[in-house]
Amino acid sequence: MPDNALFQTRFSCREFGPEPVPAPVIDALLDAARWAPSAGNVQATRFVVVTRREARERLAEAAFGQRFLAEAPVIFVVCALPEVSARQYGERGRELYCIQDAAAAAENMLLSATLHGLGSCWVGAFRERDVAKALGLQRGWRPVALLPVGRARRGPSQRCRLPLSTLTLRVD
Ligand SMILES: Cc1cc2nc3c(=O)[nH]c(=O)nc-3n(C[C@H](O)[C@H](O)[C@H](O)COP(=O)(O)O)c2cc1C
Repeated sequence: MPDNALFQTRFSCREFGPEPVPAPVIDALLDAARWAPSAGNVQATRFVVVTRREARERLAEAAFGQRFLAEAPVIFVVCALPEVSARQYGERGRELYCIQDAAAAAENMLLSATLHGLGSCWVGAFRERDVAKALGLQRGWRPVALLPVGRARRGPSQRCRLPLSTLTLRVD
C-alpha cells in the first residue's frame, strides 16, 4: 500500500448496507483497538458491541436522531474509565488521558474497518446519559465515541484537508 493510502481511504460513511459484519471481523477491530497506545499502558478503555436493532435505534435517538447509526449492522461504543486513569494520574488522567486513550483506540478501529473494506464513522454528538441508559452501562464507563461499521453503500464525497503549511509550526 503506498504511503498514507490507508488514511486517505478511510472516510466518514453515513450510508450502510444491512449485511452483518462477520464475527472474526468484529474481533479484528477490537483487537486493533487493544493495540492502541494508552497512558502508562493502563488501558482504561472498554468497548460495547451493539448489533441488536432496538439498541441501535436507541443509540440513534441518543445521537440526536442521526439515523444512519441505526442502519449500520454494528455499532462499537468506545468507553473511557476516568476513575481508573485517575488512580494513576489524578486529574490529568480523569479529564484527559482516558479520553485520549479512547480516541487512539477508536482511530485504530476505523482504520481496521478500512483495511477490511468496510465503511465506518466517528460519531461524537450524543447525550452520554442516554447512551449509558440504552446500553445499561455500569457506572464509571463514559461513552466517548459511537462507531457504526458496515458495508458502505457509496464512496466518499469530496474530502478536503487544510494544507500542511497552515497546520504546521516548525521549530528548527
Ligand atoms: C470527535 C469527532 C466527532 C464527530 N462527530 C460526528 C457526528 O456526530 N456525526 C457525524 O456524522 N460525523 C461526526 N464526525 C465525523 C467528522 O464529521 C468527519 O471526520 C470530518 O468531517 C472529516 O471527514 P472524513 O472523516 O470523511 O475525513 C466526528 C468526528 C470526530 C473526530
